[in-house]
Amino acid sequence: MIFLALNPMKKLQVTTTYTLYKSISELDNEVQELMHIAIEVRKKAYAPYSKFNVGAAILLDNKQIVTGNNQENAAFPSGLCAERVAIYSAGANYPKSTIKIIVISASSSKHKVTQPIAPCGACRQSIAEYENKQNKDIRIYFMGETGPVIKVNSLKDLLPFGFDSSYL
Ligand code: THU
Repeated sequence: MIFLALNPMKKLQVTTTYTLYKSISELDNEVQELMHIAIEVRKKAYAPYSKFNVGAAILLDNKQIVTGNNQENAAFPSGLCAERVAIYSAGANYPKSTIKIIVISASSSKHKVTQPIAPCGACRQSIAEYENKQNKDIRIYFMGETGPVIKVNSLKDLLPFGFDSSYL
């Protein structure tokens, strides 16, 4: 993003684009299968404190699928979100591969999660790092336990004004 010193002051707008699917059944087969993998891994999350389970599945350009779920800790900040468990595992095991798709599913044992659950800010920043590293957009799909699915074609649609290495 380029910032220009403009005079006089100007109000600008950032827009974002996303696709809303009524349910998982509207997704194409490849993404549906990936979402089912995220749902299965979500069930294995270690979330004894929040009772909020998140599962993530990543499709790489080499067709490998890498998964992750949230891992909590009695020292709360030591825990890690599903998306980062998955993306760091992809980075660790397939450092030369490109991440094509990330799908995310969330549920809670305290209430039914029926709305799409977007990745948290820290996960967006982490995903942004890989999008920049590979110089190719990452498609992201997210949902609750049931209900609609949201798709964005790039992490940038979730994180405008992102911080990246070009500032360093
Ligand atoms: N969580 C994720 O795994 N991903 C997110 O993007 C948001 C939150 C996890 C972290 C914690 O274990 C639980 O959900 C409640 O915040």
